[in-house]
Amino acid sequence: MIAGLTTKPERLVVGIMSGTSADGVDAALLQIRGTGEALSWRLLRHETLHYSVKVRDLIRRCSEPGSGDAASICRLNVLLGELFARAVTHVAERAGVEPKSIDLIGSHGQTLQNLPGPVTITGITVRSYVDFLLFRNRSRGRLVINIGGVASLTAIPANAAADRVLGFDSGPGNMVIDGLVAHMTGGREAFDHGGRYGRKGKSADELLARLLDHPYLLTPPPKSCGREEFGRPFLESILKENAALPPNDLIATATRFTAESIAFACRRYVMPHNVYEEAIVSGGGARNDYLMEQLRAAIPELSIKESDEYGLPAAAKEAASFALLANEAIHGTPNNLPTVTGAARAVVLGTIVFGRTSQ
Ligand SMILES: Nc1ncnc2c1ncn2[C@@H]1O[C@H](COP(=O)(O)OP(=O)(O)O)[C@@H](O)[C@H]1O
Ligand SMILES: [Mg+2]
Repeated sequence: MIAGLTTKPERLVVGIMSGTSADGVDAALLQIRGTGEALSWRLLRHETLHYSVKVRDLIRRCSEPGSGDAASICRLNVLLGELFARAVTHVAERAGVEPKSIDLIGSHGQTLQNLPGPVTITGITVRSYVDFLLFRNRSRGRLVINIGGVASLTAIPANAAADRVLGFDSGPGNMVIDGLVAHMTGGREAFDHGGRYGRKGKSADELLARLLDHPYLLTPPPKSCGREEFGRPFLESILKENAALPPNDLIATATRFTAESIAFACRRYVMPHNVYEEAIVSGGGARNDYLMEQLRAAIPELSIKESDEYGLPAAAKEAASFALLANEAIHGTPNNLPTVTGAARAVVLGTIVFGRTSQ
């Protein structure tokens, strides 16, 4: 069955992703040829199915540490299975492709909690491997920055082999900004559209300095983070300790916190070891113009571009990654980076499940 797929000159693959923001499920349909360093790809279509407030709240409730009873998680499991399937048929239809001609689906699943240890770190090395496939370059060192709920960083030196790639989460992405906006608007808005609230505010320097002292930022990689570090308790402590600050100032400060923590991670853990010229930004955070401005100001030595300029709309990139991973898995191409984890060898990660139509 797999041989039939791997001998095809090109495959239609859908990747699906739903991250810590719980904003919706992204589905990306790619045409993929080859594998490993000979791999080439083209994005045919990307669609986002936004979650209802009810689904979003259920995911968020199961994501806070110590939460998520078995019944809620079971309910979510079924519900998300259906929504993911709908996302796949939707992206195929919009691309004018028969759903049954799709060869493969790569699904990340829903992030609930990032439990520390080898499992999450492996998740990071997998992402770094895909960033390497997507964005490696002979002459330019590149940083790939994904700004979802959390912000992740992949550093790919010029002309590097896969084993020289470094990946980790720098800290918060949109998570704190989203939390503040939802709080300020009584839940009517879920994020700072285009960064317009942040732009109206003034960053509070003392609060910013305190936020940048967070122990997560000062821990060297490998590391990953989620709602455990920057979720509800973190948000509530900011709100409680800064009740006198105008809402827009808080949002401006949270936006700078994201930008400065990414810049700090680059300067402290990445740039001293290699030469980097470009940063490629993806994830919903790339649509926050105020955040992008702050990021450019925080690392002026890098040319910061959005992944759209490389053929991958910012919102499609993570979903596209899972299409590539599914492609690598069926070829048996090792898709993690052992040097990052200290694992003994490169292995093929992922579970292959055969659908009824292909049996
Ligand atoms: N137009 C926009 N303006 C500002 N922020 C945006 C915009 N679109 C998306 N975002 C931000 O991006 C987040 C979703 O990003 P995404 O990459 O899907 O993250 P995740 O992988 O965590 O789901 C939203 O919660 C929001 O904070
Ligand atoms: Mg999302």
